[in-house]
Amino acid sequence: MISVAIDGPSGAGKSSLAKRLAADLGYVYVDTGAMYRTIGLYAARQGADLHNADAVAALLPQIRLDIRLEDGTQHVYLNGEDVSEAIRAEAIGMAASAVSAHPPVRNFLLDTQRSLAANQNVLMDGRDIGTVVLPHATVKIFLTASPEARAQRRCKELQEKGQNAAYETVLADIRQRDYQDTHREIAPLKQAEDAVLVDTSDIDFDQSFALLKRTILEHI
Ligand code: DC
Repeated sequence: MISVAIDGPSGAGKSSLAKRLAADLGYVYVDTGAMYRTIGLYAARQGADLHNADAVAALLPQIRLDIRLEDGTQHVYLNGEDVSEAIRAEAIGMAASAVSAHPPVRNFLLDTQRSLAANQNVLMDGRDIGTVVLPHATVKIFLTASPEARAQRRCKELQEKGQNAAYETVLADIRQRDYQDTHREIAPLKQAEDAVLVDTSDIDFDQSFALLKRTILEHI
């Protein structure tokens, strides 16, 4: 089985690039951030203290998470409810970042993530895919861009959705999430030693796509 691991900070374009690459290569796209977001959503709905590991761990037995592929797109179900849209809110991204620092949350998702890669070709994106989830991935890519470039893209995306966001606020959120994701004790965001570094600060989507595709094809 071929597995492509794409890790990197939030807003580097991982999910849109990974989605298109997976479609192009005929692999299944697995968005692991969506799984952490679902746990973040549940914990937030329950009013839990997201930074309290015990409080969040206590909720895990109540969560049934199903990943289903519908029309080639990953849908996430939380106890039977399709939450694929709800988990995209900014606040839920932050909640996901907070709950993902707790070891029981990471253990809860690890088997699901590994089993998805066991019997199909996958392109999996996240923070620790190349370092922890799939240490023997066929290809590892660390996809990044400067915080400023990521904030600019995020603002544009939000504007297109009709949501107004101040650049400074978006940039501050990105920096905070980067800090949380790189400084946690378990499975922090970091480039695997054998990962190829791709920086998209100064290249657009199509150029990034072409560069990534070339990199993947060179390694498989
Ligand atoms: O990629 P994303 O923005 O949807 O991820 C949301 C949060 O989930 C991110 O801030 C950190 C966490 N996450 C993680 O810890 N490990 C992963 N493999 C994927 C996401």
